[in-house]
Amino acid sequence: MNVAIAPTSALRGVVTTPGDKSISHRTLMLSALADGESVIHGLSNGEDVRATRAIMSALGAHIDDRGGVVVVRGPREGLHPSTTSLDCGNSGTTIRLLAGFLASVPGTHILVGDESLSSRPMDRIAEPLREMGLSLRGQGDRYTPPLTVEVPSAGIRSIEYSVPVPSAQVKSAVLFAGLATQETTVVRESLRTRANTEEMLHDAGVDVLCEDIGKGRVVRLHGSRPRAHEWWVPGDPSQAAFFAVLAALHPDADVTVAGLYPGPERLGFVAVLQRMGAHIELVPSAHGVNLVARSSDLQGVVVSSEEIPSVDEVPILAVAAAAAGGDTRFVDVGELRIKESDRLQGSVDLVTALGATAEIDGDDLIIHGVGTAKLFRSFSYRAALDHRMVMSAAVAAAVGQGGTIEGAETVSSSFPDFFDVVASLR
Ligand code: S3P
Repeated sequence: MNVAIAPTSALRGVVTTPGDKSISHRTLMLSALADGESVIHGLSNGEDVRATRAIMSALGAHIDDRGGVVVVRGPREGLHPSTTSLDCGNSGTTIRLLAGFLASVPGTHILVGDESLSSRPMDRIAEPLREMGLSLRGQGDRYTPPLTVEVPSAGIRSIEYSVPVPSAQVKSAVLFAGLATQETTVVRESLRTRANTEEMLHDAGVDVLCEDIGKGRVVRLHGSRPRAHEWWVPGDPSQAAFFAVLAALHPDADVTVAGLYPGPERLGFVAVLQRMGAHIELVPSAHGVNLVARSSDLQGVVVSSEEIPSVDEVPILAVAAAAAGGDTRFVDVGELRIKESDRLQGSVDLVTALGATAEIDGDDLIIHGVGTAKLFRSFSYRAALDHRMVMSAAVAAAVGQGGTIEGAETVSSSFPDFFDVVASLR
């Protein structure tokens, strides 16, 4: 689907984002594993989370929509393998977390995905999960999907694992697998990534201990079955980043995004934008944190990948950098290559289409900004099955001279109402 975005007039208002995607996946998984009824408020309505939901049903959880909440009942006797393959769609979080989660479901499972997911490497989870005793087969050296996961009925063993690249998905896969052992699983990360799994395992009554060491963290988990729980999913800060840049780059904007998850590993983009000169602040609220952003003049800066551990917000920050005066260097962001699309090249293509120049230097992304979004050109951009690239391009079109996005329907992976929410600010 092609979507044409026109430049927007003044932007005012308060918006909310869908329930945090990372938390939403985990509420479904932990609730399905528990014995009894869990209630989820504010679950994301994105397709990625729908994929996780359908998989939990296929494994035997009973899931209903009841008066605006989602009710999940995990069977007392535990989940069972599905007779059909488990379709993870476009969702890397679903497939990587699921591979560890399935340690609690003895039998054989086949995990498949769409064209984008089928080209993403799963070797990073295969290595520790095999060490724990799961049999895991993928395609080629990098274990791309379809993946076959075989869980021995005799069970698996715990490990101590140091995650080689900062990855919340790898950490979470190992911790979820650790639930199926009666022992202590230890995961070390040298850079703290999003803490959702640790926080939520604790909420579900699992014995989990976290210790921050330098910039990293050690998580120790004693395997047990999670307890049913009532979950309240806060808004997704990674989606708020699009509105932060939309407001900052627009000449007449004052926008609030309300009720966001306040985890520090998720909000690094705010400090980056502030350093660039953006009028943006975080205000504590009864439901997490509110982000307030206003029109700003931006300057290029150096951004370390440590500030944004999962690099999810780099494409939209690249749009901000394209509008800034001077150069911005994103240091060590090679992980962008293996997201839903190659976001390193995708960001170069997008900012080039806008009239800025950009280059890739090893694992660094350098953008030479044009000084103001008013100088962006009208453009057309093809977003190959990547929701964050769609939203980044849409923001650039709205603050510049408009543009056309090919493949815009992929926005539904995480934010089906994105275009309507943007329109509501006009
Ligand atoms: C996620 C982790 C991140 C992020 C993804 C969601 C999660 O990936 O890119 O959008 O929910 O655990 P990595 O931390 O594995 O890089």
